[in-house]
Amino acid sequence: MKALVIKEYGSPNKLSIEEVPKPIIMSNEVLVKIKAVSINDLDLGIIEGKSLINRLLAGLFRPKIQILGSDIAGVIEEIGESVTKFKIGDKVYGDLSDNKFGGFAEYVATSEKNLCHIAEGMPFDIAAAIPQAGQLAYQALYDFSEITEGQKILINGAGGGVGTFAVQMLRKHKVHLTGVDTDVKREMLLKLGYDEFIDYMKTDFTEQNTQYDIVIDCKTNKSPRKYKKILKENGMYITIGGDIPKVIWIMFMSKYLEKRYRRAFKCVILHTNRNLPEINKMFEEGNLTSIIDPRSFTLETGREAMEYYATGEQLGKVLIVVDE
Ligand SMILES: NC(=O)c1ccc[n+]([C@@H]2O[C@H](COP(=O)([O-])OP(=O)(O)OC[C@H]3O[C@@H](n4cnc5c(N)ncnc54)[C@H](OP(=O)(O)O)[C@@H]3O)[C@@H](O)[C@H]2O)c1
Repeated sequence: MKALVIKEYGSPNKLSIEEVPKPIIMSNEVLVKIKAVSINDLDLGIIEGKSLINRLLAGLFRPKIQILGSDIAGVIEEIGESVTKFKIGDKVYGDLSDNKFGGFAEYVATSEKNLCHIAEGMPFDIAAAIPQAGQLAYQALYDFSEITEGQKILINGAGGGVGTFAVQMLRKHKVHLTGVDTDVKREMLLKLGYDEFIDYMKTDFTEQNTQYDIVIDCKTNKSPRKYKKILKENGMYITIGGDIPKVIWIMFMSKYLEKRYRRAFKCVILHTNRNLPEINKMFEEGNLTSIIDPRSFTLETGREAMEYYATGEQLGKVLIVVDE
């Protein structure tokens, strides 16, 4: 089968398309014929190999995980003897980042626990864009507090995967939502449902006078003292990702920060594939879809897809269509 392979750390130009053996399933695994796979920050982070955390995950000196790609959608082609949840021909999707990745390929073998049935009527490209970003958004919004009407919420890094799912999930709650990102994403975000937009190149959102009930941060690039200033008393700051040392600091110091600043400091630790059933329901009710960049890529042009993702110019999730 064809796969997009990485054998040394560096930049997206280290990716090459190769012929590799089709995976063989174990008894608890299924073989998925991949239809589409989306790119996540973690894929690029591993390719670049700059952070020690990513190297601990993927291999200290060279990547042991040679086929990246975690958010896949496809059709089950084979099942192991102990598989109970799926049958051959089922349409599935899921996040494989907990289980050796392997999505930048024509086929992947993975444990059945990493997959969920695709919602009724959900196309493969919409499905492949959901797992990681959709569930990070869901868990940031619903794991720590109850969202109530009229709350003021700010999302930093609003134009990425998480921010574009979160705004759709928040529509029914009638909150006042502010998004922070680059100006090129302003129009798209206001159309999606953000009430206000802040261009981070012109305005530091932590330097304004408005205070929020909840700040959700996909970039985590300021100090907790600055977040305190823009949170109402008993407000909540939730980090999802960004500057890894800052995220780790907030995670370990959260109790101290809560006591000192009288605001809650929380960190989302992704539970992979836990909330896909709830997201399926939102799609079926017409309340959620994926925002996908208009440029389309295949496995053969996968390296260009990753180079494009690295520019940060994309408007929505970048998708590789493996099989039309
Ligand atoms: N907590 C966990 O367990 C977990 C698991 C997996 C991943 N993650 C992390 O969670 C985050 C997911 O976010 P995502 O998928 O939404 O990321 P994303 O798609 O990369 O989006 C981030 C957005 O922020 C914008 N941005 C860049 N610099 C900014 C700045 N200084 N201020 C404000 N916005 C800025 C980006 O714009 P440009 O495109 O112009 O750069 C982009 O629109 C990532 O950091 C990922 O590594 C966390």
